[in-house]
Amino acid sequence: MRILSGVQPTGKLHIGNYLGAIKQWADLQNQGECFFLIVDLHAITVPYKPEEMQKNIINTAIDYLASGIDSTKSNIFIQSKIKEHTELAWLLETITPMGELERMTQYKEKSEKSPNAGIFSYPVLMAADILLYKTNVVPVGEDQTQHVELARKLAKKFNNQFQETFPMPKAKILKTGARIMSLDDPSKKMSKTGSPQSYICLSDPPKEIEKKIKKATTDSGKEIRYEPKTKPALANLINIYHLFSNKPIKEIEGQYKNKGYAEFKKGLTETIIQGLKPIQEKRKEYEKDPEKIQKILTQGKEKAEIIARKTIREAKTKMGL
Ligand code: AMP
Ligand code: TRP
Repeated sequence: MRILSGVQPTGKLHIGNYLGAIKQWADLQNQGECFFLIVDLHAITVPYKPEEMQKNIINTAIDYLASGIDSTKSNIFIQSKIKEHTELAWLLETITPMGELERMTQYKEKSEKSPNAGIFSYPVLMAADILLYKTNVVPVGEDQTQHVELARKLAKKFNNQFQETFPMPKAKILKTGARIMSLDDPSKKMSKTGSPQSYICLSDPPKEIEKKIKKATTDSGKEIRYEPKTKPALANLINIYHLFSNKPIKEIEGQYKNKGYAEFKKGLTETIIQGLKPIQEKRKEYEKDPEKIQKILTQGKEKAEIIARKTIREAKTKMGL
């Protein structure tokens, strides 16, 4: 079984990336051959600073490794280092209906600000990432379901129009962590594009975490009850508590019965700090050894490239090229 996923190197990873995606990647490592990409070609579809890109790429690699991705088990590599990604993306674009891309919600959200053709065809490049390695399972956050669905459609279309080539990839979505919401607006998902107050980075020091949780929006009322419909802000915080502590939500409610928000927030802060501690300790070790990171990325690339070249040759032959 092949497993593949990726994150954009747009800054430091936040707990939404971790709880929604990367945490489950680590658990999947013993179940198949894993490919974890740093998708820099996707990251350049929005305004960015070229001089910060390399730093962001390395930071993302460190976040992967610190979160438990083991380079002896998984291939970690940079998307733009393997040119077959863009090559397959072009081949797939020729069988992608415009209408499919127009329906993509991410394109609609992002293009309000700065429409470019890269954002429009972004999901085709993602489908290429997935299909290039004949991936079976794609562990992602809920927001990526629509994109994985397109990869499935394109696999099916390619197989029908030419010859059987790609297996059907399947999205694997973690139920509870699927959507971590912003700390200052529970109607929006936690995102690097929000204000710094709205997300917690994996590398945030304890003081920073404390400050952000103190400021986090809560709902009216005093009781600590998990009610996503009527108390979305609190429900999000309880969910984060639950995911970091592994305590059932009912138990957390019981623990804070008759205690106010202040007490709950104190407990939550401590839980996040403790949950991130092993990640931050590992991060420090990796930060000291940039050569090791380079080596891991090169090794990942070399292994992935063999498969990528083979698939491209096969796809082109079947397309008559
Ligand atoms: P991105 O930051 O958009 O590159 O997302 C990388 C991965 O993290 C994807 O699998 C997303 O689905 C997941 N992700 C991003 N933001 C969140 C969030 N707020 N809650 C849960 N998962 C998320
Ligand atoms: N679009 C994904 C995101 O924003 C990142 C991504 C690019 C990806 N290629 C991928 C995820 C392939 C899974 C598989 O989160």
